[in-house]
Amino acid sequence: MAPSDTLPATILTTEDLTAALPLSVAAGWNQTALDWRVFLDHGRVFGCRDERHGLIATAACLPYDGSFGFVSMVLVDAAWRHRGHATSLMQACIGELERQGMPPVLDATPEGAPVYEKLGFKPLFGLHRLEGEARAARVAEAVEAASGAVRPFRDADLEAATALDAAAFGAARGFLLADFLRRDRVKAIVLADGSGFALARPGFRATQIGPVVARRESDAIRLLETLLASLEGRVFLDVPDRQAQIGAWAAARGFRRQRPFTRMAKVKVATAAAASFGEPARLMAAAGPEFG
Ligand SMILES: CC(C)(COP(=O)(O)OP(=O)(O)OC[C@H]1O[C@@H](n2cnc3c(N)ncnc32)[C@H](O)[C@@H]1OP(=O)(O)O)[C@@H](O)C(=O)NCCC(=O)NCCS
Repeated sequence: MAPSDTLPATILTTEDLTAALPLSVAAGWNQTALDWRVFLDHGRVFGCRDERHGLIATAACLPYDGSFGFVSMVLVDAAWRHRGHATSLMQACIGELERQGMPPVLDATPEGAPVYEKLGFKPLFGLHRLEGEARAARVAEAVEAASGAVRPFRDADLEAATALDAAAFGAARGFLLADFLRRDRVKAIVLADGSGFALARPGFRATQIGPVVARRESDAIRLLETLLASLEGRVFLDVPDRQAQIGAWAAARGFRRQRPFTRMAKVKVATAAAASFGEPARLMAAAGPEFG
């Protein structure tokens, strides 16, 4: 169809939340209303509306402390695809972030990647979602089982965790970690030597583990073992491809690879790999493809 068939992009508000959530649910995604709220409260969500069908497409952008912004929730109702909606909403997000001097970064699904490539995004590195089952236990027992190497997250740990996360991820997002920590049934632990931490929060389909930040994969595995021992049911874990030890550990625990993602950035340098986006070797699991 011609680009003239693309519905105009508008800015969404909290009143649109009930219409936005079904789009991510229909795509089989894991975001909850609380995740959508983060974009409405701290970033901007654009959408396209049809008079009869209501909200048929969305894209969201989230500025992260000075360095770059994240783009996500790029969703187009199946009946409305290939009419330029994703491209037009992406352009709105890119414009919003570039006005603030921030290059846009995102985690692309295989379906989204061709759209972003056409808009000038370049791949940084690959991630994959691991899906597994956790057994129930109490967090206190799990921490004890980690024999002193791990302890529960305290309020006073937020500043240090924000700094660790910023060094690994490339941008500070303390407001996001604080948002996760306020949620019901969140699980949060730190390495006792202060060199890493891990969070887990309920998602729509499964508990989303992440971010997990540590110096070494063996430390991350210790955090993951402790978290898993305090969780019950299905869990998702979005791991950078480079973290081969975590991949092997997860496979031995019966996790399966569910889907790949590609972290991409729209930058002016010839190859995005030349640009600096944190120290990905320390990013053991992302906060989820919507937040990076
Ligand atoms: C990915 C998605 C958002 C694309 O939405 P869309 O409105 O159809 O995209 P556009 O019309 O703007 O596409 C622009 C161009 O990108 C390319 N493109 C879009 N979808 C594609 C696909 N599935 N495979 C290959 N190329 C694709 C095409 O070149 C397309 O041009 P065309 O329509 O002339 O073929 C939509 O398919 C979707 O919601 N998928 C499920 C959720 C998802 O994966 N979102 C991306 C998250 S990162």
